[in-house]
Amino acid sequence: MRITQRLSIDDLALAGEMLRRGQLVAFPTETVYGLGADAFQPEAVRNIYLAKGRPSDNPLIVHLGSIDQLAEVAMDLPELAARLIDRFWPGPLTLVLRKTERVSDLVSGNLNTVAVRMPNHPIALELLQRAQTPVVAPSANRSGRPSATNWQSVLEDLDGRIDGVIVGEPTSIGLESTVLDLTQKVPCILRAGAITAEELMNVCPEVRHSNETFHEQELRKSPGTRHRHYQPTAMVLLDRTRTSHPAPPIIDDPRLLNKKIAWIGLENPPAQDWIVTESCSSVDVYAKRVYAFFREMDHMGIEVIVCSLVHEVGIGRALNDRLKRAADERI
Ligand code: TXA
Ligand code: MG
Repeated sequence: MRITQRLSIDDLALAGEMLRRGQLVAFPTETVYGLGADAFQPEAVRNIYLAKGRPSDNPLIVHLGSIDQLAEVAMDLPELAARLIDRFWPGPLTLVLRKTERVSDLVSGNLNTVAVRMPNHPIALELLQRAQTPVVAPSANRSGRPSATNWQSVLEDLDGRIDGVIVGEPTSIGLESTVLDLTQKVPCILRAGAITAEELMNVCPEVRHSNETFHEQELRKSPGTRHRHYQPTAMVLLDRTRTSHPAPPIIDDPRLLNKKIAWIGLENPPAQDWIVTESCSSVDVYAKRVYAFFREMDHMGIEVIVCSLVHEVGIGRALNDRLKRAADERI
């Protein structure tokens, strides 16, 4: 049992020092809250896996506060990396690159690559600069649960298991960063995020999505895709009525019978005995709200959450990806 300090934005010097001492500190980024530890202290990295209950073959993203730190963790950068960094950092784009010897197998999940990003958030950047070391930071939730998009959700999952949390605003994007693998011949999106393939293609001539060929080798390459993810206690069901391949109306689904049910989506919910409904005004708002909504529904004892899938423009592709994983459907 640890005592989890609530830290304010005036405590960033202390928070940086805590990271240097090998402690675990959660902090806001523009995507979701991250749980930080010094990437070069094996004991601290091991404690991240313990605190989250995370399988140790699921590698961590290394967060940088300055571009000078990149050479400490990655090498043999393709020419494309510099252009992507120039265009998208700081921001919600994680790049998978060849790792240096300094990056332990614990960080990389025994792969010879490392995932790196520079978050676009003033608190995160100041903390990383004060830590003066690359910081591994998975999403600050218990493994398998929805990511934390506010500090209260961090404490719900990790109070007493980490050393500190920075009390900041709810995160602005609400879904995890785009993960782009630059070690393959054609750059490959391993995890969809706010930065879309279309945006990347302004810089890269060619980009593909990993689930276009979702075979075993790829599953090994991005181990995170293999594990249970983003799931509330309530069962998640998908409403496909607004997609380009509409399915039968969800209200006829027998799994809704005699259950406490909630609905989230764009526009208005179909007529039904919902206990809670949330109509988001845009796909960006939906993405930003969805994980907190999952947690709120669990607090209310909701048994089934119906989530309406969206058109796959902008962050819509990433949102559908997370909703399908929360519903435990193969993409
Ligand atoms: O937005 C984000 O990326 C957040 C914030 C805190 O920065 N972090 C985050 O970390 O989502 P995490 O650990 O929840 O997800 C990391 C993802 C996993 O799917 C993992 O498998 C993948 O990145 N990953 C990490 N290192 C990798 C590598 N070397 N090769 C392929 N995939 C990797
Ligand atoms: Mg995560």
